[in-house]
Amino acid sequence: MTERDTILIASDHAGFELKEKLEAELKALGYRYEDLGPTSEASVDYADYAHPLAKRISEGEAERGILMCGTGLGMSYTANRYAHVRAAVAWTPEIAALAREHNDANVLVLPARFVGEAEGRAILKAWLDTPFAGGRHTRRVEKIERTEHSTEEKR
Ligand code: RB5
Repeated sequence: MTERDTILIASDHAGFELKEKLEAELKALGYRYEDLGPTSEASVDYADYAHPLAKRISEGEAERGILMCGTGLGMSYTANRYAHVRAAVAWTPEIAALAREHNDANVLVLPARFVGEAEGRAILKAWLDTPFAGGRHTRRVEKIERTEHSTEEKR
């Protein structure tokens, strides 16, 4: 395992409890993770935790990250501002698997107030276990960061 294999994980207060549970799951599955906070359920601002995680993914220091807030929305808005970050809000294992398979999601975002512990673990496993399918999806993922818009090469 290299430093880049370490999965970064962070939440806000709404996601704190699920973060602790998913860390235990990561450990049980044999993954190395780095907890970027917070360390308690005291109220915090989600962006303060999403920015440092997304910056490190964007700069290539880590390949994968997991974020949690109440709805998953604030975390995803913030993380997706960074180049090369594809943060997917997933509320079912199927969506998590498709986020990997079709969108090569390198950040998993969980809506902690809307998924229970068992569902959260299943979503995490689906995201961890599903590879990017490549093929036509590679072209689509590459177009995400293009600023010029073209409808050519459609299939
Ligand atoms: C915190 O109350 C809540 O707004 C936050 O966890 C998140 O849902 C924001 O998108």
